[in-house]
Amino acid sequence: MNDPFAAPPNDLIDLARYRLDNPASREALVADAQQGLAASSCVVLPGFVRRDAIERMAAESTRLRPRAWRRDDAMTPYGPPVAGLPPGDPRAIATPLAMRTLAGDDFEASSDIVRLYRWDGLTRFIADVMGETELHRVFDPLFGCNVTILDEGDTHHWHFDSNDFVISLLLQSAESGGDFEFAPHIRSADDENHGAVAEVLRGGRDRVKTVRVEAGTLMMFCGKYSVHRVSPVKGTRPRMIALFSYDKRPDKMFSDATAARVFGRKRVTQLVAE
Ligand SMILES: [Fe+2]
Repeated sequence: MNDPFAAPPNDLIDLARYRLDNPASREALVADAQQGLAASSCVVLPGFVRRDAIERMAAESTRLRPRAWRRDDAMTPYGPPVAGLPPGDPRAIATPLAMRTLAGDDFEASSDIVRLYRWDGLTRFIADVMGETELHRVFDPLFGCNVTILDEGDTHHWHFDSNDFVISLLLQSAESGGDFEFAPHIRSADDENHGAVAEVLRGGRDRVKTVRVEAGTLMMFCGKYSVHRVSPVKGTRPRMIALFSYDKRPDKMFSDATAARVFGRKRVTQLVAE
């Protein structure tokens, strides 16, 4: 089990502001985050990572950028568009997806981003917020921790997540645009609510909330039932964000097809077979 108080990386986290090393303060942070997630499916912790550390993380991602895989596509919130559906069905309405992604294994173990992700205290904090007795960083070396880079005009399409939640850390904001937009609890386990989802895809704003955060903000978001996107980036400064993934199983691997789609990678197993 991850030790909540395992030597915190105090060169990375602003422990004066977020006292994860103090049991009572930590307990209050967990309770606040749980309350926020229940209310809106999204919680932000501004200034979680120190300014000097976040600048190093952004510089590292910029240096590694040539390794990133570029995607230009259009997808529905559920995956590729389905033909033959009645007009207005959201399973047939695709929105643009354009971004670059760095995989977990593009980063060295000494990377500040990787050090933060691999700090057991963060994993345990997230587990406590999510009410999980057992939680693991995703074992898949490509997917556990990655970084997406959005240049001018790039956008992340409206979608639902397949996993219960994701943790993100904004490394660098765009000059404008690049906002996180979401429609909280627009569907449930029992009701897809396709009519309301289609309304959002057509540009309806009634149910949409916008979050504009600064670099260094840690965000917790439950995206299984809340459709969400990143609005098109404006200006020449790329928006860069690190995404940390977790799973209840210690050995979570994604499919070869998903690895190829997200990172343009062929797994070693495939290369051996060829
Ligand atoms: Fe998502």
